[in-house]
Amino acid sequence: MNEVLQAIYDRRSVRAFKPQQVKEDDLTLILEAGRQAPSAKNGQPWHFTVVQRKSLSDRIGAAAKEAYAKDPEFAKKSPWMLKPEFNLLYGAPTVVWVSGEASNPNAQGDCGIAVENMAIAAHSLGLNSCIIISALPAFATKNGPTFIKDLGIPEGFKPMYAFALGYTAAPLPAPAPRKEDCVNYVR
Ligand SMILES: Cc1cc2nc3c(=O)[nH]c(=O)nc-3n(C[C@H](O)[C@H](O)[C@H](O)COP(=O)(O)O)c2cc1C
Repeated sequence: MNEVLQAIYDRRSVRAFKPQQVKEDDLTLILEAGRQAPSAKNGQPWHFTVVQRKSLSDRIGAAAKEAYAKDPEFAKKSPWMLKPEFNLLYGAPTVVWVSGEASNPNAQGDCGIAVENMAIAAHSLGLNSCIIISALPAFATKNGPTFIKDLGIPEGFKPMYAFALGYTAAPLPAPAPRKEDCVNYVR
């Protein structure tokens, strides 16, 4: 199998990270893989914010948890996520926020493609990652505008995906099961 397919097939989401920081050269290559993603009408409706200030990532994760805790249904559905030790951003030493242009109707999809490019690139470089949307409610809390400012997200953009990046602190998980029955052919 060629290396591209191998990387696509072998990539796993990881949810525990070593404190060891990502090498600057690797980070640059991963961000470039994001920038090289295709986008509708080549709109490139994205902005990437690299956060290597763990205190900020921890505050954003905690704010999202507080938002979830207000919903009694959430506590029933996903109680583990409300445990004090659960970190929504998994303590990753680097978190890249991928923000999309709010006025571009394709931003969600385009940013999703960019973040997956980054996940595959990270895997190809021996790094591990997790794409995360569960921290987004942090931006709808009273501290949301402060987080946007702290992250330096430009006017007119909104955070769409967090990309937790680093080195896994645990053995890679077994592949998550894939649906088999999701292809039909018309020939
Ligand atoms: C758009 C998107 C959002 C995701 N959000 C989260 C998340 O909030 N928390 C999390 O732990 N994993 C998240 N994941 C990771 C998925 O749970 C994971 O991709 C899926 O279970 C398949 O596992 P794999 O990535 O190891 O193949 C997300 C993945 C995608 C593509």
